[in-house]
Amino acid sequence: MKKNVVFVGFMGTGKTALAKKLAHITGMRYVSIDDLIVSSEGRPITDIFRDEGEPYFRRLEKDIVSDVMEKSGQVVDTGGGVVLDEDNMRVLKDGGVVLCLWADADTIYERTKKHGHRPLLNVPDPVARIKELLDARRPFYEKADIHINTDDRSVDDILEEVKDSLDARMEDAG
Ligand code: S3P
Repeated sequence: MKKNVVFVGFMGTGKTALAKKLAHITGMRYVSIDDLIVSSEGRPITDIFRDEGEPYFRRLEKDIVSDVMEKSGQVVDTGGGVVLDEDNMRVLKDGGVVLCLWADADTIYERTKKHGHRPLLNVPDPVARIKELLDARRPFYEKADIHINTDDRSVDDILEEVKDSLDARMEDAG
Protein backbone atom coordinates (compact mmCIF):
# COMPACT_ATOMS: atom_id res chain seq x y z
CA MET A 1 0.00 0.00 0.00
CA LYS A 2 1.34 3.42 -0.86
CA LYS A 3 2.01 5.89 1.92
CA ASN A 4 -0.89 8.29 1.42
CA VAL A 5 -4.42 8.42 0.07
CA VAL A 6 -5.05 11.45 -2.12
CA PHE A 7 -8.45 12.82 -3.12
CA VAL A 8 -8.70 14.78 -6.36
CA GLY A 9 -11.76 15.91 -8.30
CA PHE A 10 -13.75 18.95 -9.31
CA MET A 11 -15.03 21.47 -6.76
CA GLY A 12 -18.14 20.13 -5.03
CA THR A 13 -17.46 16.43 -5.63
CA GLY A 14 -17.12 15.80 -1.88
CA LYS A 15 -13.34 15.52 -1.45
CA THR A 16 -13.27 17.25 1.93
CA ALA A 17 -16.15 15.30 3.49
CA LEU A 18 -14.75 11.98 2.25
CA ALA A 19 -11.14 12.71 3.17
CA LYS A 20 -12.10 13.76 6.70
CA LYS A 21 -14.23 10.66 7.28
CA LEU A 22 -11.64 8.30 5.84
CA ALA A 23 -8.94 9.87 8.03
CA HIS A 24 -11.19 9.53 11.05
CA ILE A 25 -11.92 5.84 10.56
CA THR A 26 -8.40 4.82 9.56
CA GLY A 27 -6.52 6.97 12.07
CA MET A 28 -4.54 8.55 9.24
CA ARG A 29 -3.84 12.30 9.35
CA TYR A 30 -6.21 14.60 7.42
CA VAL A 31 -4.29 17.22 5.44
CA SER A 32 -5.92 19.88 3.26
CA ILE A 33 -3.74 21.60 0.66
CA ASP A 34 -6.18 24.55 0.51
CA ASP A 35 -6.11 24.97 4.32
CA LEU A 36 -2.31 24.99 4.29
CA ILE A 37 -2.33 27.65 1.57
CA VAL A 38 -4.78 29.79 3.57
CA SER A 39 -2.81 29.47 6.79
CA SER A 40 0.55 30.14 5.15
CA GLU A 41 -0.86 33.28 3.50
CA GLY A 42 -3.05 34.38 6.39
CA ARG A 43 -5.93 35.23 4.03
CA PRO A 44 -8.74 33.38 2.29
CA ILE A 45 -8.45 31.89 -1.22
CA THR A 46 -10.79 34.51 -2.70
CA ASP A 47 -8.43 37.24 -1.47
CA ILE A 48 -5.37 35.45 -2.84
CA PHE A 49 -7.01 35.11 -6.28
CA ARG A 50 -8.25 38.72 -6.20
CA ASP A 51 -5.05 40.35 -4.98
CA GLU A 52 -2.36 38.17 -6.55
CA GLY A 53 -4.06 36.27 -9.36
CA GLU A 54 -4.45 32.56 -10.09
CA PRO A 55 -0.81 31.88 -11.17
CA TYR A 56 0.38 33.01 -7.73
CA PHE A 57 -2.12 30.66 -6.07
CA ARG A 58 -0.95 27.79 -8.31
CA ARG A 59 2.69 28.36 -7.30
CA LEU A 60 1.76 28.18 -3.61
CA GLU A 61 -0.32 25.08 -4.28
CA LYS A 62 2.59 23.38 -6.05
CA ASP A 63 5.07 24.13 -3.24
CA ILE A 64 2.67 22.82 -0.63
CA VAL A 65 1.88 19.66 -2.62
CA SER A 66 5.56 18.79 -2.80
CA ASP A 67 6.10 19.47 0.93
CA VAL A 68 3.06 17.44 1.98
CA MET A 69 3.94 14.48 -0.23
CA GLU A 70 7.30 14.04 1.45
CA LYS A 71 5.38 12.65 4.41
CA SER A 72 3.28 9.53 4.82
CA GLY A 73 0.22 8.28 6.69
CA GLN A 74 -1.98 11.10 5.40
CA VAL A 75 -5.33 11.46 3.72
CA VAL A 76 -4.68 14.40 1.42
CA ASP A 77 -7.55 16.67 0.37
CA THR A 78 -6.57 18.71 -2.72
CA GLY A 79 -8.13 21.68 -4.51
CA GLY A 80 -9.95 20.95 -7.77
CA GLY A 81 -7.27 22.49 -9.98
CA VAL A 82 -4.27 20.64 -8.55
CA VAL A 83 -4.34 18.08 -11.38
CA LEU A 84 -3.64 20.71 -14.04
CA ASP A 85 0.05 20.74 -13.22
CA GLU A 86 1.91 17.68 -14.52
CA ASP A 87 4.48 17.77 -11.72
CA ASN A 88 1.74 17.85 -9.08
CA MET A 89 0.09 14.77 -10.54
CA ARG A 90 3.40 12.90 -10.69
CA VAL A 91 4.27 13.78 -7.08
CA LEU A 92 0.77 12.83 -5.87
CA LYS A 93 0.83 9.48 -7.69
CA ASP A 94 4.37 8.67 -6.57
CA GLY A 95 3.48 9.23 -2.93
CA GLY A 96 -0.04 7.93 -2.77
CA VAL A 97 -3.06 6.26 -4.28
CA VAL A 98 -4.95 8.97 -6.14
CA LEU A 99 -8.73 8.71 -5.98
CA CYS A 100 -10.83 10.94 -8.22
CA LEU A 101 -14.40 11.83 -7.24
CA TRP A 102 -16.79 12.69 -10.07
CA ALA A 103 -20.16 14.42 -10.30
CA ASP A 104 -22.10 15.96 -13.14
CA ALA A 105 -22.39 19.73 -13.63
CA ASP A 106 -25.89 20.01 -12.13
CA THR A 107 -24.89 18.15 -8.98
CA ILE A 108 -21.81 20.32 -8.65
CA TYR A 109 -23.87 23.46 -9.04
CA GLU A 110 -26.36 22.33 -6.37
CA ARG A 111 -23.56 21.50 -3.96
CA THR A 112 -21.55 24.69 -4.49
CA LYS A 113 -24.18 27.38 -4.99
CA LYS A 114 -24.58 28.30 -1.33
CA HIS A 115 -20.86 28.93 -0.80
CA GLY A 116 -18.96 32.00 -1.91
CA HIS A 117 -15.42 30.84 -1.22
CA ARG A 118 -14.63 29.52 -4.70
CA PRO A 119 -13.39 32.38 -6.85
CA LEU A 120 -13.62 30.37 -10.08
CA LEU A 121 -17.39 29.93 -9.61
CA ASN A 122 -18.16 33.53 -8.60
CA VAL A 123 -19.33 34.38 -12.14
CA PRO A 124 -22.71 35.36 -13.64
CA ASP A 125 -23.35 31.90 -15.15
CA PRO A 126 -21.78 29.33 -12.83
CA VAL A 127 -23.40 26.31 -14.53
CA ALA A 128 -21.82 27.21 -17.89
CA ARG A 129 -18.53 27.78 -16.11
CA ILE A 130 -18.70 24.42 -14.35
CA LYS A 131 -19.40 22.63 -17.65
CA GLU A 132 -16.57 24.40 -19.40
CA LEU A 133 -14.02 23.74 -16.65
CA LEU A 134 -15.17 20.15 -16.18
CA ASP A 135 -14.70 19.44 -19.90
CA ALA A 136 -11.30 21.09 -19.98
CA ARG A 137 -10.14 19.21 -16.88
CA ARG A 138 -11.56 15.79 -17.66
CA PRO A 139 -8.32 14.44 -19.25
CA PHE A 140 -6.37 15.52 -16.19
CA TYR A 141 -8.73 13.89 -13.71
CA GLU A 142 -8.66 10.72 -15.80
CA LYS A 143 -5.03 10.21 -14.80
CA ALA A 144 -6.08 9.25 -11.25
CA ASP A 145 -5.72 5.64 -10.10
CA ILE A 146 -9.30 5.11 -8.89
CA HIS A 147 -12.53 6.77 -10.08
CA ILE A 148 -15.73 7.09 -8.07
CA ASN A 149 -19.04 8.63 -9.04
CA THR A 150 -20.78 10.65 -6.33
CA ASP A 151 -24.06 11.69 -8.00
CA ASP A 152 -27.14 10.97 -5.86
CA ARG A 153 -25.14 9.18 -3.19
CA SER A 154 -24.55 9.75 0.52
CA VAL A 155 -21.09 10.28 1.95
CA ASP A 156 -21.29 6.94 3.79
CA ASP A 157 -22.23 5.06 0.65
CA ILE A 158 -19.33 6.61 -1.27
CA LEU A 159 -17.01 5.91 1.65
CA GLU A 160 -17.80 2.18 1.40
CA GLU A 161 -16.75 2.20 -2.25
CA VAL A 162 -13.61 4.16 -1.38
CA LYS A 163 -12.65 1.58 1.26
CA ASP A 164 -13.42 -1.36 -1.06
CA SER A 165 -11.36 0.17 -3.87
CA LEU A 166 -8.40 0.78 -1.57
CA ASP A 167 -8.64 -2.77 -0.19
CA ALA A 168 -8.76 -4.21 -3.70
CA ARG A 169 -5.67 -2.26 -4.57
CA MET A 170 -3.85 -3.60 -1.53
CA GLU A 171 -4.74 -7.16 -2.54
CA ASP A 172 -3.51 -6.51 -6.09
CA ALA A 173 -0.25 -5.19 -4.70
CA GLY A 174 0.11 -8.44 -2.72
C1 S3P B 1 -10.08 25.32 -7.23
C2 S3P B 1 -10.70 24.57 -6.26
C3 S3P B 1 -10.77 24.97 -4.86
C4 S3P B 1 -9.59 25.87 -4.50
C5 S3P B 1 -9.52 27.03 -5.46
C6 S3P B 1 -9.34 26.58 -6.92
C7 S3P B 1 -10.09 24.84 -8.64
O1 S3P B 1 -10.76 23.83 -4.01
O2 S3P B 1 -8.37 25.16 -4.54
O3 S3P B 1 -10.68 27.79 -5.31
O4 S3P B 1 -9.29 25.33 -9.45
O5 S3P B 1 -10.90 23.94 -8.94
P1 S3P B 1 -12.04 22.81 -3.87
O6 S3P B 1 -11.95 21.84 -5.00
O7 S3P B 1 -11.79 22.14 -2.55
O8 S3P B 1 -13.26 23.64 -3.89
